[in-house]
Amino acid sequence: MKKLWNKGESIDALFERFTIGKDPELDVILAPYDVIGSKAHAQMLAKVGLLSASESAQLCEQLDLIYASCQKGEFLIEPGVEDCHSQIEMLLIEQLGDVGKKIHSGRSRNDQVITALKLFTKDQLLEVVDKVQVLFELWLDKSELNSKKLMPGYTHMQVAMPSSFGLWFGAYAEALVDDLSMLRAALDITDQNPLGSAAGYGSSFELDRGYTTELMDFSSLNVNSIYAQMSRGKMEKAVAYAVASLAGTLSKYSMDVCTYNGQDYGFFTLDKQYTTGSSIMPHKLNPDGFELVRAKCNKLQSLPVEMTLILNNLTTGYHRDLQVLKESFIPAMQTIQDCLEVTIAMTKGLEVTDDLLEDSKYDLLFTVERVNELVMQGKPFRDAYQIVGKELLEGIYEASRDIKHSHLGSIGNLGTEQIRQSFEKVLSTMK
Ligand code: ARG
Repeated sequence: MKKLWNKGESIDALFERFTIGKDPELDVILAPYDVIGSKAHAQMLAKVGLLSASESAQLCEQLDLIYASCQKGEFLIEPGVEDCHSQIEMLLIEQLGDVGKKIHSGRSRNDQVITALKLFTKDQLLEVVDKVQVLFELWLDKSELNSKKLMPGYTHMQVAMPSSFGLWFGAYAEALVDDLSMLRAALDITDQNPLGSAAGYGSSFELDRGYTTELMDFSSLNVNSIYAQMSRGKMEKAVAYAVASLAGTLSKYSMDVCTYNGQDYGFFTLDKQYTTGSSIMPHKLNPDGFELVRAKCNKLQSLPVEMTLILNNLTTGYHRDLQVLKESFIPAMQTIQDCLEVTIAMTKGLEVTDDLLEDSKYDLLFTVERVNELVMQGKPFRDAYQIVGKELLEGIYEASRDIKHSHLGSIGNLGTEQIRQSFEKVLSTMK
């Protein structure tokens, strides 16, 4: 019998395929985490007297073997088996007979799947954080390295005021501080043990939920069994918001690089190994990597909405709808990491163009400096503004290239140490 719940009745093949959905593929990823949860459950059952020490040890030994098969990439969900929870229990029954049949006392696949999802997500978030840290350091290094290299600052896509590559790279580093705060909040929400809530209404057995919390290294537990069930979806949504925030940073950065790399701007040269060519135009060095990061990260920003719409009209308690969350949530955790990794690699090879602002097309960048010069000579700001406005209308405005050096006073102040301290402060509460 391939279904834990099947009592002998036949199941329509189309219906079976439809309800199992993508679980055989996605649950292979969750399986090692289900093993960790199942081991904690078996150990706890022995502690509260529902299993003998030897029964619990036999279960743990088999679960270790299943874990090893997951690590080797050999764990499979057999055709017709619904999910990893069913597959693992069936393997235990195959190997241990009645002892295998005892592990499900006091639990349900509903709390099993949330437990596995939370353990998986904790690991994923910590890996995301490691990569965010690498990108943060890289952006800060680039910021310092390019602190004196000037670039145009834009508003409305029109040249506005002088800026620097140091300021621009530093802005993205500081954006990661806020993204990290969101990831930290997501981690706090994820790091709570739902196991023992069973189908959502607990168990009449005296389960020791504190013990499984300790065994699985969760910081705390979801106390109320109905809330523990409700945390499925709420956790994914919190993580989706954090991932979307980070994705927003990466997609904006990619759009900047793609724009500034084009010949009309010419601010960056890309490392050739991170460009692609054209089948017809021999000169092409296209920024496809940044374009794909942009598209993937734009898509990731729809994740909170997708999670919200799936969850929107569900009453308390388990619904099969929740299974569908996994279809976009699990792959998204990999996508954001791929985007971080490729952004790091491509950013290392980004070369900044020197002396950009010498070009006369950037004369207008210095109008505010001209106003400020008059202010320094004693003119009220509003009068100075009018004077420069007139100079521009009459065509007698002259951009002083010297001004930019005094201007470096403000745009040269990168606040690198302050930004680093803010980042480390958030990080220290996560690791
Ligand atoms: N594959 C299912 C899911 O992801 C596991 C839980 C099944 N529970 C149930 N009551 N049908 O939601």
